[in-house]
Amino acid sequence: MFEVNQNYAKLPGSYLFANIGRKVSAYTAANPDKKIIRLGIGDVTQPLTPTVVQALKDASEEMAHAETFHGYPDYEGAAFLRKAIVERDFQPLGVDIGMDEIFVNDGAKSDSSDLSDIFSLNNKVAVCDPVYPVYVNTNAMCGRAGDYDPATERWSNVIYMPCTEGNGFLPELPRETPDIIYLCFPNNPTGMAITRDQLQVWVDYARKVGAVIIYDNAYEAYITEDDVPHSIYECPGAQECAIEMRSFSKNAGFTGVRLGYTVVPKALKSSDGVSLNSMWATHQEMKFNGVSYIIQKAGEAVYTPQGRAETRQLVAFYQKNAAAILSGLTEAGYTCYGGVNSPYIWLKTPNGMGSWEFFDFLLNTANVVGTPGSGFGPSGEGFFRLTAFGSYENILEALDRIKKI
Ligand code: MLT
Repeated sequence: MFEVNQNYAKLPGSYLFANIGRKVSAYTAANPDKKIIRLGIGDVTQPLTPTVVQALKDASEEMAHAETFHGYPDYEGAAFLRKAIVERDFQPLGVDIGMDEIFVNDGAKSDSSDLSDIFSLNNKVAVCDPVYPVYVNTNAMCGRAGDYDPATERWSNVIYMPCTEGNGFLPELPRETPDIIYLCFPNNPTGMAITRDQLQVWVDYARKVGAVIIYDNAYEAYITEDDVPHSIYECPGAQECAIEMRSFSKNAGFTGVRLGYTVVPKALKSSDGVSLNSMWATHQEMKFNGVSYIIQKAGEAVYTPQGRAETRQLVAFYQKNAAAILSGLTEAGYTCYGGVNSPYIWLKTPNGMGSWEFFDFLLNTANVVGTPGSGFGPSGEGFFRLTAFGSYENILEALDRIKKI
C-alpha cells in the first residue's frame, strides 16, 4: 500500500486566503442582499492595460499561423523577455544581472515554494513573523520545518523573527544562525519597507554566516521613498548571497495571467562551491515546461514605453486607494502602518480585539472583508490587513462604513 508525505498532515489548517474565502461565501449565502467589499486577498481588480491586451491578441494571432507558431517555450524564459527584464529592471539601478541569471515563471508563489527543493532538509529557515504563509508552509510540507506546536503556533525547526510595533516591523538579526532567510520588502503583510542601509545589514550578515536570502520583491512597483531599494542587488555583495523573486501580478495586474521571474546570480554558491544558478536551471528543466509564448509577449509589452506608462497609472490608481485608506482610518482613530511603499495597510485592531474577532466584526457590521493579522503568524495577533486593490468608490464606501461602526 502506498504511503503519503506525512508532513502534509502536520499543517495546522488550510491556506489563509482559502479559509477567508469560505467564511465570506458562507456569509454571502446567508445574507444574499448585502454588498460585500473585499479588501482581503491582495488580488488586483483593474483590467489589463491596452498595450498588454494588444500584445496578447497579437501573440495569439501569431500562434494561428504555421510560420509564427510557437511550441514548447524555453525553460528559462524567452530571450526577448529576459532581455527586457535586464535592461529595464536592473540596468537603470546600475545592477549587472545577466540574462542567464533570470528564470521566467508563472508568478512568485510557485518559486517561493519550489526553491526549497534545492536546499538540504537540514537547513534552518528564518522567517519574519508575521509572514506570507507560503514560505513556512511549503518548508513544512517538504519536512524542513519540524513539528507544529498549536500552543505557540510555531514550527520547531523555524527561526521566527518578530516584526512588531517595537522594532518598526523590521526583523532583527536572529540569535540562532539560519541557513535560509526569507525576506519580503516592501513587506506582505505589514506594508512596511526596508531602507537600502537596513537591507545591507542583512546582506552583510548572510555573507558572514553563509546563509542565502530569498528576497520576495513582488511589491517593488509601490516604492515611493528614495532610500528604499528597488532590488536587493543594489546592496554590494548581494549577488553572492541572495535570490530575488519578482512578479507581474501587483504592478501590471497579472494575477490571473500568471507571470513572474526569479533571479539566481551565478556568483551565488553553496558552502561546498555548488552553483545555485546551475541547480535552479536543472530544477526548471526537470520540473517546469516554461511560460506560454503569449503570456511572455504580454510581459514584454509591460516594458515598452507605452506599457510602462500604463503600468505606472495602474499602480498610481492603487496607491491613491492606499493613501485614502491610510488617512481615512487614521482620522477614524485607528493606528495604521504601511500603505506608503505598499498596497497593504496594517492596522491595529480596536479595543484589544483579536484579529479573527475583528474579521468577524467587520464582516458582520460593515460587510468589509480584510485579512486577520494572526493568519500571518503569532506576532500578527491584534493586527489586521486591508488591501488597496479595490475600486476607489468601494474603498471610500468601506471607510464610511468602518467610521460608522
Ligand atoms: C496576499 O494577499 O497576501 C497575496 O496576494 C496572496 C498571494 O499572492 O498568494
